Amino acid sequence: MKFDTPAGTNPIDRLTVVGKPTDRIDGPKKTTGTAPYAYERHDVAANPAYGYVLGAGIAKGRIASMDLAAARAAPGVLAIVTHENAGKLGKGDMNTARLLGGPAIDHYHQAIAIVVADTFEQARHAAGLIRVDYARAKGRFDLDEQLRAAPLKGDSSGEGSAAPPIERVGDFDRAFAAAPVTLDQRYTTPDHSHAMMEPHATIAAWEGDKLTVWTSNQMIAWAVGDLAKTLLIPKENIRVDSPFVGGGFGGKLFLRADVVMAALAAREAKRAVKVALQRPLIANNTTHRPATAQRIRLGCAKDGTITAIAHESGSGDLPGGGPETATSQTKLLYAGANRLTAMRLAVLDLPEGNAMRAPGEAPGMMALEMAIDEMAEKLGMDPVAFRVKNDTQVDPAKPERRFSQRRLVECLERGAREFGWDRRSATPARVRDGQWLVGLGVAAAFRNNINMKSAARVRVSGGRVTVETDMTDIGTGSYTIIAQTAAEMLGVPLSAVDVRLGDSTFPVSSGSGGQWGANSATAGVYAACAKLREAVAAKLGFNSADVTFADGQVSAGGRQVPLAQAGDLSAEDAMEYGDLAKKEQQSTFGAHFVEARVHALTGEIRVERMLAVCAAGRILNPKSARSQVIGAMTMGVGAALMEELAVDKRFGFFVNHDLASYEVPVHADIPYQQVIFLDEVDPTTSPMKAKGVGELGICGVGAAVANAIYNATGVRVRDYPITLEKHL
Ligand code: MOS
Repeated sequence: MKFDTPAGTNPIDRLTVVGKPTDRIDGPKKTTGTAPYAYERHDVAANPAYGYVLGAGIAKGRIASMDLAAARAAPGVLAIVTHENAGKLGKGDMNTARLLGGPAIDHYHQAIAIVVADTFEQARHAAGLIRVDYARAKGRFDLDEQLRAAPLKGDSSGEGSAAPPIERVGDFDRAFAAAPVTLDQRYTTPDHSHAMMEPHATIAAWEGDKLTVWTSNQMIAWAVGDLAKTLLIPKENIRVDSPFVGGGFGGKLFLRADVVMAALAAREAKRAVKVALQRPLIANNTTHRPATAQRIRLGCAKDGTITAIAHESGSGDLPGGGPETATSQTKLLYAGANRLTAMRLAVLDLPEGNAMRAPGEAPGMMALEMAIDEMAEKLGMDPVAFRVKNDTQVDPAKPERRFSQRRLVECLERGAREFGWDRRSATPARVRDGQWLVGLGVAAAFRNNINMKSAARVRVSGGRVTVETDMTDIGTGSYTIIAQTAAEMLGVPLSAVDVRLGDSTFPVSSGSGGQWGANSATAGVYAACAKLREAVAAKLGFNSADVTFADGQVSAGGRQVPLAQAGDLSAEDAMEYGDLAKKEQQSTFGAHFVEARVHALTGEIRVERMLAVCAAGRILNPKSARSQVIGAMTMGVGAALMEELAVDKRFGFFVNHDLASYEVPVHADIPYQQVIFLDEVDPTTSPMKAKGVGELGICGVGAAVANAIYNATGVRVRDYPITLEKHL
């Protein structure tokens, strides 16, 4: 089914199941420990051997020699795979560095060996006996130093596309020079780690030349494709299965070393092998969100009209890698006739950077929305009013291109009312509660909406419905919204729908990433259900086009037949997207409000209250969408106050590579969160009329926290995370 005209009325609009706050249908499995996560697939691989991955001890250079003798002789050891016996390997499209290193080493903790043994303890012990001699080379580990040598480029914003030149609208330099009120500031965000609960984990088993991996991955078809390219075997010989994912946050968008090393180990050991990357390996072996250094310049008229806006962002990556696209939102969020966005990409020999929790906008908004707050203060304007004044309903670079929906102003104004914004003191450091300084902060939220082709297969049998698609549920609630969609389309209760996900033998879905999963994957299920409805109607002898499916009955023209009488029927289809999204700009909007307290004597920072108001199309399940947003808000607090991978610039690695020293918020850090969804449908996105909302929930939060802290203390900290020593 091709989607290229705005959706009219369809069965989803009845909203008998869709749009209702619904408990996760997979909840009981998760709470009873029966949801099969990759490392615990006792059902698929009886008596697997255990693999333990050894990471490189240098950041750049070569392995001069490896002595495996002691490890081979250790108790229980079945096999060891290194670059010396792995055979010829290729490389996937999505990873920058090879997933098995050696003899050349591209980054610290790049996998260089896997030891397979009868038990995990034996494998770990033997891995510790491997002697590696390295020839260390000089690496580039200092972002600021490397950025000075890096050229300024445009924002490629689109995976794999070559960076266009610096993007300009009007004449920024002239407008900035002429503006009566200006701001020119530098903001930095550090390297971040996904820190998901479930580590990257895989069980691999071969049957002849056919490989099955039970793993934890967000994008099944990408994993199959890149595994084929890495192992140099046909895609058809690979099955990837990932029905449950214990958090991904972008760290599991791509094939990673656990999969490749498990597959190589299983081939060598001639036995199923299970591998979980040990926690201390993950920060340096897998991907991370790259640090940014951003410069923002704003020029305003005295009445608060933005006349000039420039955003430059610098980040680094391994040779061949890409930039953190932190300037993307600045092209679309505010009006302004004269604009400039550009990026610098430095070459670094640190572990590879890639997508994490709303890449681009999340760190970009941390800078932009702090700059907007600073400019409002310079103008003597309320920061909500300043944002409202500079709203735009069109793409500022292409005025003929409108936003399909854009209710940023409503989000800001509704949030201000609900949050008690009128109690904010415009002058900072004026509100005290005992020894605590109290402040309120606001930021806009912005994230683009992307639609991806997504397919599904739907079957009815005796009135029960089964949906199969390789869509993933990364803790987001995909199982539930897919079941809601099928139930609505086929007129059956939610309890009559079974959803099977994450298996590459199922039709290829959008997968989970870039907040595209909810709208795209349910639209694919819609397409398959629409096809199935036709088959059911034909089988039951209806010739009318407007057959109703409701309450387990199929009816038209006064005749009613139970769906169960259709017997066994199935249909497969995909939702594909035409040019509609190109005609109108599809984005999601919101506003974040934060109350923060800072202890006047110790500098301790506490977030007291948070509110997010979101306008993101139809909300398919307000309950799981709210969970998405409060989780994202929590991650925003992490980015504002805690999260930072500390770079060792001498040896080139992230020092704090565990959950004890890479700090993330805990429940006690997050006392009160409220989420409001504006009642919205966007008929341009799909027949579901929905958009992504999960990543919207994080974009802007960090700046709202920073702005609240500034309002409390009067001290502006522009280098995240805002730890207490920075404002004392
Ligand atoms: Mo997301 S960072 O695209 O999984």
